[in-house]
Amino acid sequence: MSILFAEKDQTFTLHTKNTTYQMKVDQYGFLLHLYYGRRTGGCMDYLLSYLDRGFSGNPYDAGLDRTYSMDVLPQELPCQGTGDYRSPSVIIKNPDGSYGCDFRYKSYQILDGKYSLPGLPAVYAAEGEAQTLKICMEDRITKVRITLLYGVLPEQDIITRSAVIENEGDGKICLKKAQAACLDWLHGEFDLLSFYGRHAMERNVQRTSVSHGAQVIGSRRGASSHQYNPMMILAEKETTEDAGSCYAMSFVYSGNFKGEVEKDQFNQTRALLGLSDELFSYPLAPGERFCIPEVILTYSSRGLSRLSQNLHRCIRTHICRGKYKDSVRPVLLNSWEASYFDITGESVYQLARQSAELGIDMLVMDDGWFGRRDDDNSGLGDWYVNENKLGESLGSLIQRINGLGVKFGIWIEPESINEDSELYREHPDWVLAVPGRSPIRARNQLVLDFSRPDVVDYIFERICGILDQGNIEYVKWDMNRSLSDCYSRDKEDQGRVQHDYMLGLYDFLERLIQRYPNILLEGCSGGGGRFDAGMLYYSPQIWCSDNTDALDRVHIQYGTSFGYPISAVGSHVSAVPNHQTGRLTPLRTRGIAAMAGTFGYELDPGKLLEVEREQIREQLSTYRRHAKLIQAGLYYRLTDPSTHVAGAWEFLSDDASEALVNVVMQEIHGNMPVTYIRLKGLRSGCMYQEMHSGKTYASDALMEEGLPLPDQSGEYRAYQMYFTVTDVME
Ligand code: GLA
Repeated sequence: MSILFAEKDQTFTLHTKNTTYQMKVDQYGFLLHLYYGRRTGGCMDYLLSYLDRGFSGNPYDAGLDRTYSMDVLPQELPCQGTGDYRSPSVIIKNPDGSYGCDFRYKSYQILDGKYSLPGLPAVYAAEGEAQTLKICMEDRITKVRITLLYGVLPEQDIITRSAVIENEGDGKICLKKAQAACLDWLHGEFDLLSFYGRHAMERNVQRTSVSHGAQVIGSRRGASSHQYNPMMILAEKETTEDAGSCYAMSFVYSGNFKGEVEKDQFNQTRALLGLSDELFSYPLAPGERFCIPEVILTYSSRGLSRLSQNLHRCIRTHICRGKYKDSVRPVLLNSWEASYFDITGESVYQLARQSAELGIDMLVMDDGWFGRRDDDNSGLGDWYVNENKLGESLGSLIQRINGLGVKFGIWIEPESINEDSELYREHPDWVLAVPGRSPIRARNQLVLDFSRPDVVDYIFERICGILDQGNIEYVKWDMNRSLSDCYSRDKEDQGRVQHDYMLGLYDFLERLIQRYPNILLEGCSGGGGRFDAGMLYYSPQIWCSDNTDALDRVHIQYGTSFGYPISAVGSHVSAVPNHQTGRLTPLRTRGIAAMAGTFGYELDPGKLLEVEREQIREQLSTYRRHAKLIQAGLYYRLTDPSTHVAGAWEFLSDDASEALVNVVMQEIHGNMPVTYIRLKGLRSGCMYQEMHSGKTYASDALMEEGLPLPDQSGEYRAYQMYFTVTDVME
């Protein structure tokens, strides 16, 4: 049993293999948080202290007891209105116009299996793999009910949190804030790791001290965004990759979010993650309910590598779904950087022909094939094949490409619309726009109102009309702007539009994957602008960044690896000089950088030298040899590329019998000091042989002292070493 209720102490204890989470229903019916960390037992309410604290109010039912205050106690569901002046999880506006809610414990249920959330992405598990705890709380005055949901996956060391709010009263209420998870620590010095960025430079790592005053990350862009990722880590000060306590919170949602961390007046720390309360005001009529999207929690007492590995495994095996979840993905060549909008059926066919010669599995026809789409100013919304431009039907092009033994994939951007399109001329009212105001343009496009089912249905039909035209085995789903002007014509309450938009998007995606279970879906939003666990529920991989520069990718992929599995990271080899940075890097280095993801190419092979084509064939055979290990192996960050001369990472098989080590040198100087790379996770006391050199090394020496990299001159060199355990003991 991973979920226990102790009647005597009124505690709920959630156990995973290595962690324990405990909470308690106290004498007033509040649900207090007691513990989250390394696996332990017993009742931990002894951790709580009750002291008379000035300016920290006391609930009325505590009588004259001035030592009881929600302002001080650690909580599962801090609400505005209970005397807790820290940031709350939930704020409700009541029918009488007052703000506040006071949820007290009512009942609980322990169920086998993991709960699911209607219309929302969530961690899933087979019945024997998980349990669910439902704790029902009620505001006795307003009759608003909240059911807290805890999913426990013991083998994964994962606990998920979500909640359903139901209006059982007789007036309309309005949710003003709804966050899924709150972690309260009674003491401790923490760092916050967050992942900030911009278009083409996503998920840089920032590690800052948690201090007095809130640190807030989030998105108001209608997408999880390039700017902040909806994943954060709280690590004790001394925590490193290999040692120390740390906690991850990952939001399974792709829209606006807010993550808050604050040290309070008594040096206690609170971390919250969930929906953003800005641009959010969600009405609930009597009888209506609202599901808060879930947060994945994990804890590691053994440093950040283990923490990331927990998230990787959970997302790879319990978020990602479908045919490609566990199988090695096809190696694809994408037409974007090869030809941009300048495509014809014949040019795409030629890319496919060259792909076939190289041994690439799939050709993806990116933007430019539909409507009047010769640049990014027109055509979005017109999901009709431009046969004039292609010079043939889509069906015939696909057949010709399949005839080469190459699979076919296609790019779409269903949520967007250009004003210069037939669809906009017909339905100008289908876009998000405030009546009487000119909307904000971005990439010269507007956003379709996906909070409206009729709009979603129409676009769905049109996209199916395309996908039914031939043997399409892959779809790249793009979204190339942030939302703005979030006004929907068919709604009374505009504060619901952005969340309803997400529900519309998820509905579309769910219908799409149900109807086309064999299609591999790759998410994209100008690269990694919607790289989150929510999208990964529908698409097992996401184009990681529009930046294909190998050096920048080492940094972007390093940051991404804290929260997301390698199997989710779309990564391609592109041409040099790189189109985003102008940098020249060796083809070998580009290959090794791209082998930290779902491998592919984004260039015109016709422009390569024969020797480069030969190198690509070798790259493909190396990738294929290691693809399973790369996709599902344990991932270790061996260096931090922002402070180390090299970016280095390792893939280790589950039984530690094989390790693939990758290194990209970022600098070159005269008379260079030797660079050493330490391996991780090998079997202690064993010998490992490196395949290329044939040399054998003691595993503990490789882990303690590392391996000196051979001297090489030239910029941005890369190394790849493959080790297998030998039966010789040290
Ligand atoms: C976005 C994507 C690119 C490409 C273009 C096409 O920027 O991230 O990979 O598909 O759109 O317009």
